[in-house]
Amino acid sequence: MISRTGRLDPGAVAIEALGGEGVERHRGALIALLTDAVDSGASVGFLPPLAEAEADAYWQTVAAAVREGTCVLLVARVAEGADAGEGDVVGTAQLLLATRPNARHRAEVAKVIVHTKARRRGLGRALMLAVEDRARRLGRTTLVLDTRRGDPSEPLYTSVGYRLAGAIPAYAESADGTLDPSAFYYRLLTEGGQR
Ligand SMILES: CC(C)(COP(=O)(O)OP(=O)(O)OC[C@H]1O[C@@H](n2cnc3c(N)ncnc32)[C@H](O)[C@@H]1OP(=O)(O)O)[C@@H](O)C(=O)NCCC(=O)NCCS
Repeated sequence: MISRTGRLDPGAVAIEALGGEGVERHRGALIALLTDAVDSGASVGFLPPLAEAEADAYWQTVAAAVREGTCVLLVARVAEGADAGEGDVVGTAQLLLATRPNARHRAEVAKVIVHTKARRRGLGRALMLAVEDRARRLGRTTLVLDTRRGDPSEPLYTSVGYRLAGAIPAYAESADGTLDPSAFYYRLLTEGGQR
């Protein structure tokens, strides 16, 4: 299921949207995924070491947002025999739907995370394309996101069409206490961003 280039064959990866009960069902895997990212130095809102209770509390807030319809939570699972944590949730991404009356065409892409054991096999890109597909179907045509400057996420985002709007210095604290810059990106899914 893994090609000679190390890529997962598209058929080996299942990307699905979870409902609130799905978040409960995959609670352990989601906590493990977030903890793996935070403890390996990713800038995803938390500082290491991430306590299980803190990760759990976070996923509860995601479940609530999924239930109220303001968050689309995608997970990537690897089919049996694919040798990358079979059946496990090995990646996730969120589409946060803006709720203000003047922003219902907009959404934020957030918490794009692939487990360290499954990186550089195309899962991050597959999640980004799935998020975009969801956004189109929901009429969310202006997508925004931010990420720590210099992280692997930047080439991922530009490779699927995001454009750099700019960077803000001293935006988020990293594990070593440094206040690092974040880069802000956008992608318009229609010509000129208009309906
Ligand atoms: C960013 C992240 C999601 C990428 O996931 P991934 O599954 O490894 O990414 P892919 O294999 O789909 O890579 C797609 C492209 O992204 C870029 N990329 C991904 N990882 C990279 C790395 N370590 N260095 C340089 N470019 C990288 C490349 O352009 C790559 O294309 P290529 O393999 O054809 O060269 C993953 O590194 C991760 O989970 N990081 C921690 C969480 C995080 O920081 N998320 C972003 C902020 S919310």
